[in-house]
Amino acid sequence: MSAAFAPPVPAIPEHRLGRGAYLRTLRTNTIATWPREAYELPIRAATLLGRPSLLLNDPEAIHHVLVANPENYRRTAASIRLLRPVVGNGLLLAEGDAWRHQRRTLAPSFAPRVMPMLCRHIALATTGWLSGLVPRAAAGPVDLLAEMQGLTLEIAGRALFSLETGAFRDEMRAMITEFGLTLARPYLLDLLLPLGLPSPRDLLRWRFKRRWMRLIDRILAARLAVSAGGAGPGGTETGGDARDLLDLMLAARDPESGEAFDRTALREQVATLIVAGHETTAVALFWSLFLLAAVPEEQERVAAEVAGLAITAENAATMLPRMPRTRAVVSEALRLYPPAATIVRQAMADDRAGEIAIRRGTVVFVAPWVLHRHRRLWHEPDRFDPSRFLPDAPPPPRFAYLPFGAGPRICIGAQFALAEAALVLAMLIQRFTVTRATAEPVVPVSVVTTHPDHPPTFRLRARPAA
Ligand code: HEM
Repeated sequence: MSAAFAPPVPAIPEHRLGRGAYLRTLRTNTIATWPREAYELPIRAATLLGRPSLLLNDPEAIHHVLVANPENYRRTAASIRLLRPVVGNGLLLAEGDAWRHQRRTLAPSFAPRVMPMLCRHIALATTGWLSGLVPRAAAGPVDLLAEMQGLTLEIAGRALFSLETGAFRDEMRAMITEFGLTLARPYLLDLLLPLGLPSPRDLLRWRFKRRWMRLIDRILAARLAVSAGGAGPGGTETGGDARDLLDLMLAARDPESGEAFDRTALREQVATLIVAGHETTAVALFWSLFLLAAVPEEQERVAAEVAGLAITAENAATMLPRMPRTRAVVSEALRLYPPAATIVRQAMADDRAGEIAIRRGTVVFVAPWVLHRHRRLWHEPDRFDPSRFLPDAPPPPRFAYLPFGAGPRICIGAQFALAEAALVLAMLIQRFTVTRATAEPVVPVSVVTTHPDHPPTFRLRARPAA
């Protein structure tokens, strides 16, 4: 049965959508806006609400925009308007000198030497979560999307603050869900108005931002109260003594100006890391498990690989090289269901990418969703085949696989996310066989991240102890 498994996709329009249908679809499922030709053309030019737009599937053009001349390509007013309520002016949305200062200051907190500390939090949180999961799995089908959202938020909370997020978790999840279902959805004026002119929904976004940042402040205050008199700023720059990302961020200094993050910057950075980090990794894990449930022989290969690994908080980082197949499943899930389905920029000045003229104001899309399924770039793009990512497989074509973006704005948390997804998957599959509880079709939907159209349930059967 699994040999015929076709990973689900939304209906692909045969032709470009008219304006009304485009706007409606954009609000509910951005990945369903791309017509068939998008998956076949190297460059697709269109007019988007009166503005020129380009979808890039050509490696040289992508390299030009994201890597060679990124200063000319900024986040669009719409992206800033839609995301600022949850991430403020932190790293994700900052531009120009402010972005350079933030990136330089934050980069050491995600350096490879910090990975053992991050993996420690991942393993501890996952161990705790698994013990709670045992009775839930025995009681009946489990909603693995909600489980993954809860676990990745717990991991983010511990990695950032060494705190169990229990006290704040429900409130945070409720606010993030509320935001994704309402204010993150673009309406016409959100797309057309410049940032200086508030759209009708911007007042609601501004109110949401105040409420959300107050919650982040409460969490920060709780953590700072615990650490008062403990390891405060200083002495943690090497990552050696740091308990968590907050210790590193408190100690961080811009290597050029010596400047530290003030309280507002710290709060917005924390909000950014929570929002950018946890929902993306949750859906990456959800789709990995969905695919493994659909193809039991792949699941058994992962189970065989991880069966003998005793993963602990102390050794978690060193276990990663011993699970190439588990990591390949994560990489393939990120190809088929990239959590960040679209990367959007706007050209600040006229430019050329090879043969292509890019006019000032052009909205430029690099869409991992399309790129990862492009007919000219991949062999059998719609097939689930983790072996593409095994260490002895040829690497994917250049700039054809971009789940974390590329260039100076590449995801700062990519290594953390990959480690987290592989460790959680390994620890879960060590304990349970995962199958779908119902055969109801699942369709991927993307507004902020790529998630299922409804949360399907799964049966988790305990595996015999190794
Ligand atoms: C599977 C999980 C993840 C995926 C697929 C993902 C994807 C991405 C992508 C595509 C970008 C680039 C966006 C652009 O160029 O416009 C990005 C940026 C970013 N990501 Fe991630 N991300 C993930 C996990 C994380 C984690 C765990 C963190 C932090 C803890 C994080 C923090 C950020 C930040 C702060 C940026 C902005 C970087 C900058 O502009 O300099 N992400 N992410």
